[in-house]
Amino acid sequence: KKALGIGLAGFGTVGSGVWETLEKNSELIQARTGVQVSINRIAVRDLTKAREGAAAELFTTDWQEVVNDDSVQMVVELIGGTTTAFDIVSSALKLGKPVVTGNKALLAERGAELFELSRQHNAPILFEAAIAGAIPIVKAIKDSFAGNRIESMAGIINGTSNYILERMTDAGLDYKVALAEAQELGYAEADPTLDVNGWDAAHKAILLTSLAHGFVIDPADVYVDGIEQVRGTDIAFAKNLGYVVKLLCVMHTRPDGAVELRTQASFISQKHILSSVNGVFNAVAVTGDAAGESLFYGRGAGKGPTASSVVGDIIELAQAMGQGSQPAGFLPYKPDGGLLPIEE
Ligand code: HSE
Repeated sequence: KKALGIGLAGFGTVGSGVWETLEKNSELIQARTGVQVSINRIAVRDLTKAREGAAAELFTTDWQEVVNDDSVQMVVELIGGTTTAFDIVSSALKLGKPVVTGNKALLAERGAELFELSRQHNAPILFEAAIAGAIPIVKAIKDSFAGNRIESMAGIINGTSNYILERMTDAGLDYKVALAEAQELGYAEADPTLDVNGWDAAHKAILLTSLAHGFVIDPADVYVDGIEQVRGTDIAFAKNLGYVVKLLCVMHTRPDGAVELRTQASFISQKHILSSVNGVFNAVAVTGDAAGESLFYGRGAGKGPTASSVVGDIIELAQAMGQGSQPAGFLPYKPDGGLLPIEE
């Protein structure tokens, strides 16, 4: 019987959700892959925290033990951040171990180095969970739409800011109260600054643009603004004019091939379908030259939806392993793509 041992880094909202999903659906996963998938080691920062489900002996505070363990054939990184997470992912890749991650900041900020390691060591990085929670947008852009020139994408891809804007609009809540609710629901990042200053959404938009155009983007080249400046009066003003305020990421490919990418709070007409994407829901509208326009919609944050995508990637690896092969993770294929300079 084939077995795939996972080393998990992080047992917070998403990590524990992955554990639960693998437990709950283990028979289904075995039947679908022909492989027995199990989490064999787990790295956490604090051993004294109560951990439901997993056996105490699986846990360690030393991530190197997890990555190097002989029973670990792939590493799932769910700690977030760009420092320790980088060490974990790069170490795994150097050992030829495939990586599944939900870490958009890591890949958007340090993807150039990591994708290069992935290429050198022939170890894929799968990151469906990094963008738009449960929505299979990475596979859609990387695989399903690979025959298209992607002309544009417009997305609401941060659940926390979308939730805050909705609560401000419908319940007249104060910004801070709405943010506290989003944190309570497990939508926000450990540091919610990135959710409200636009950077979490921008990291995801950068990755989507890399998937669509094949080149790595320097975050310094991207225009990013968040929802921190949005006030109740802006929302009321929008409403009077027939609009709603949303944090929108927009990517547009000009006919000459140059790419424009922006993240900012925007007015959207109440008649536009994206105006009804509320709460934790995300949506990405993608236009390809062959496909025309498609809309992807679903839960963009939270325990179950994000775990769903992590487990989907684990299964993709398990299936390939069952056939003695390896999935083709994303690798940049163009040195430079012609991102347009920032215009305020
Ligand atoms: N903090 C993120 C959000 C989580 O609110 O969308 C999902 O990436």
